[in-house]
Amino acid sequence: MSDTFKGSKVTDDVHWVGAIDWSVRDFHGYRTSRGTTYNAFLVLAEKVTLIDTVKTPFTDEMLARVASLVDPERIDYIISNHSEPDHAGALKQVIARTHPEKVFASKMGVRALRENYQLDGVTEVTDGQTLSLGNKTLTFVETPMAHWPDSMVSYLNEEELLFSQDAFGMHLASYERFADELDPYVLDVEAAKYYANILLPLSKAVSRALAKITEMGINLRIIAPDHGPIWREDPMKIVQDYARWAEQKRTNKAIVVYDTMWGSTDRMGRAIGEGLAAGGARVKLMPMSGAHRSDVATEILDAGALIVGSPTINNQIFPSIADVLSYLKGLRPVGMIGAVFGSFGWGGESVKLLAGMLEEMKVELVDEPVKVNYAPTDDNLNQCYKLGVRIAEKLRGKGS
Ligand code: FEO
Repeated sequence: MSDTFKGSKVTDDVHWVGAIDWSVRDFHGYRTSRGTTYNAFLVLAEKVTLIDTVKTPFTDEMLARVASLVDPERIDYIISNHSEPDHAGALKQVIARTHPEKVFASKMGVRALRENYQLDGVTEVTDGQTLSLGNKTLTFVETPMAHWPDSMVSYLNEEELLFSQDAFGMHLASYERFADELDPYVLDVEAAKYYANILLPLSKAVSRALAKITEMGINLRIIAPDHGPIWREDPMKIVQDYARWAEQKRTNKAIVVYDTMWGSTDRMGRAIGEGLAAGGARVKLMPMSGAHRSDVATEILDAGALIVGSPTINNQIFPSIADVLSYLKGLRPVGMIGAVFGSFGWGGESVKLLAGMLEEMKVELVDEPVKVNYAPTDDNLNQCYKLGVRIAEKLRGKGS
């Protein structure tokens, strides 16, 4: 086994033994511009315990990190907090190579591990159950749908350390293991992007999970998620961020998402942006020629208004706009107002289609669509500008 990869210390008895994926750029549709980590943790208690594993191609890297600390065959217990392949993909191989006494997962986790990986013999743990590791104790808390039905978190009582699986994570590859060693701006951006793209549609489950952890009255000294850095300085900050994001509180930010064929819809979008800014809204224009759907999702996290524009092409909306709206619909944002606009040559169906899609997303359309045949005239651009001003007026009073 390679001795290139080392474990790294979280506390005296807890070590990070995960993997760094510097190259991943697509995480089921989410652009992971800064790569990611798959975090696994080794608890060096009397019962040596591995918390989660890694994505399959990183199995050897993870086991090498374990071997830098202890013979992998000394692992007694493995806890599978979450069965998605980025954390359980390596599990079957790890079991075969380390022969643990027991593997634990939630009831839904036991089922997922059996059906997705043909892995039998996993022991079910229930909500609130504790597991003695000899000189340390783990407490399991089920957090269904944060992120999958099987999700649970494990709290190491003596260390006041929460192994939080996907929750409180981010996609960020780095050799720094702790959040306080990284640029706070990058942390804020990546944590928000992760919440928006992974957890936004599950916000109610996130609120329930946060309430459950609060009711337990436990102290959170360290939060160790399955992706990105570990929170040890002010770990409650990310908990408070999650509570705020789960509320989906809207601000006076408006985002204008559009694509263009020959520049007409682009000119309309820019005129709407001018009106929004003149009306006092915070504005972000997102032409899809340069934006990725996951960046739009990040802006949706606190935007008060979503304005969407598309030319008509073959009686349909532009493919890039269909893509981003399909993605946003799945994220189920709530409480936004919006409007649509578009240009056309001989059809003009795009605005009707856009309006229908925004209505399906429960975006409240606050004005008539602006629709332009061929290139926009000055009057058309003034109409777009006024639409922006009216939407900004409706956003007034919301926070920034
Ligand atoms: Fe990081 Fe839901 O897996």
